[in-house]
Amino acid sequence: MNIPRLQIGRWEFPLPLVSGGMGVKISGWQLVLAVLEESCLGTLTSMGLGDLSHGMSGTHFVTTSRAALQYELSQLRARTDRPFAVNVMGALSNVDDLIATAVQGGANIIVYGAGIPRALPAVVEDPDVALVPIISSARLAGIILKRWEHYRRIPDAFIIEGPLAGGHLGFSLDQLEHLEDFTLESILQQTLEVIKPYEDACGRKIPLITAGGIFTGDDIARMLSLGASGVQMGTRFVATHECPVAMEFKREYLNARPEDVRIIKSPVGMPGRVIANEFLRQLQGGDIPAPSCPFHCITSCERDAAGFCIAERLDNSYKGDVANGLIFCGANAPRVTRIMSVHELVTELMDGVRASTLTLPHAH
Ligand SMILES: Cc1cc2nc3c(=O)[nH]c(=O)nc-3n(C[C@H](O)[C@H](O)[C@H](O)COP(=O)(O)O)c2cc1C
Repeated sequence: MNIPRLQIGRWEFPLPLVSGGMGVKISGWQLVLAVLEESCLGTLTSMGLGDLSHGMSGTHFVTTSRAALQYELSQLRARTDRPFAVNVMGALSNVDDLIATAVQGGANIIVYGAGIPRALPAVVEDPDVALVPIISSARLAGIILKRWEHYRRIPDAFIIEGPLAGGHLGFSLDQLEHLEDFTLESILQQTLEVIKPYEDACGRKIPLITAGGIFTGDDIARMLSLGASGVQMGTRFVATHECPVAMEFKREYLNARPEDVRIIKSPVGMPGRVIANEFLRQLQGGDIPAPSCPFHCITSCERDAAGFCIAERLDNSYKGDVANGLIFCGANAPRVTRIMSVHELVTELMDGVRASTLTLPHAH
């Protein structure tokens, strides 16, 4: 297969591969830079940055998060002129502040997940900044397209995250028990149908980028042959030398067996996929002390019901205290067998795409 370029708004990437935003510091500037240098799109996280100690007030939380994102952006911009994305989460209480900070700091693309970006075009008016919602159903694509008619804007792309992805999942616990009804392939087909009238009306393509469970070059070729314009991957980028997460975290991926991968109910109010560990065992046994939280980073947070603070637990894992942390992962984490460089990973994947005998569909 000839490898197609990926176009998102006015930004073009030679390879149709995106490294996903991974919260609480995982997709930091070091990983994003390495991905950009391989001619792919890298996504910087804006979540859980800085030292968010629990003694902090709400105002201090906003200023600390802003300063930490400014630092990440400045590190990246000091080293590259290539376009990159920043991932924000709709459920964050400071989401608009993070978006403004990202745009001021030179982000070219805003990727918006964990919430419906109803008013995003009013928050980011600059037409050069591409707006990319993350969706988990064709229905949500339809809702956003209809809503954005009000702003005379269409999304510059959608990321379709299927049920095998890492991090928070846009599916109910019940849906996750019936994975055969919610395949990434079927959501892609349905979304292609929903966007078609909008593409015809505006005379341009709305690229669809699929994510969740994509592991090999063959998987990428299959998604492209089904009509995706690109793919996003998370799990495999965690298992790279450049990912700034602690080696103990990466080792959990190397050691994970299929039966270790679990779905939990996160305080965010969404399910999340994790690797079972000591923390999860204590949580299930009711042995975790009740969390305190003065800054309320997530508007929908159900920390009392869930019994833990997600920012704190993800941060523990990031730093290497995996026994007391939450280890987010995609369904394919048990397939990770070694840590490699981003260069090796992208080369392996693209060799796989080139070797594929599948063909690209005609432009729709
Ligand atoms: C450790 C981890 C953390 C993640 N955190 C986020 C996040 O903060 N925001 C987000 O939109 N997606 C998040 N994701 C999802 C990824 O961006 C990506 O879409 C997904 O992992 C793709 O599936 P894969 O892991 O099978 O490649 C996370 C994934 C992982 C593995």
